[in-house]
Amino acid sequence: SRSTPLTLSVNQQTHTVTVSPGTPLLYVLRNDLGLNGPKFGCGLGECGACTVLVDGVAARSCVLPVHAVLEHEVTTLEGLGTAEAPGPVQQAFIDQQAAQCGYCLNGMIMTVQALLNRNPHPTEEQIRRELKYNLCRCGTHMEILAAVRQLAE
Ligand code: FES
Repeated sequence: SRSTPLTLSVNQQTHTVTVSPGTPLLYVLRNDLGLNGPKFGCGLGECGACTVLVDGVAARSCVLPVHAVLEHEVTTLEGLGTAEAPGPVQQAFIDQQAAQCGYCLNGMIMTVQALLNRNPHPTEEQIRRELKYNLCRCGTHMEILAAVRQLAE
């Protein structure tokens, strides 16, 4: 479909982009807004690397058309904190050295933030169930779980 000006709110800033309304949100975030926190993994909604928050709830931005978020607040990894001032979830992942290649971490962190938004003190089972569909090929799952346990205390 045709490109058209669309206004969206990302990390509490309003942006206008001229894209086709069916464009995946991930492409708009990365290509138009320069927000490279969300990663392109599978492009099929299956790996979680592209996860963002829509009104505080985790969403896979590779399969979410940009028109679906126009009336909503989008939060990306950049909205949780910066390199100089990491947010609490980012800090816990740093404390537990929960990165190897790091490609999955955007999705892990955003998914954990969404869990904590609903439930500030998740149980081990709830943490594992939440992260089950975020794929990591390096195998830092134990450090990731340690980071979330630190936050859940
Ligand atoms: Fe979106 Fe894999 S890139 S779920």
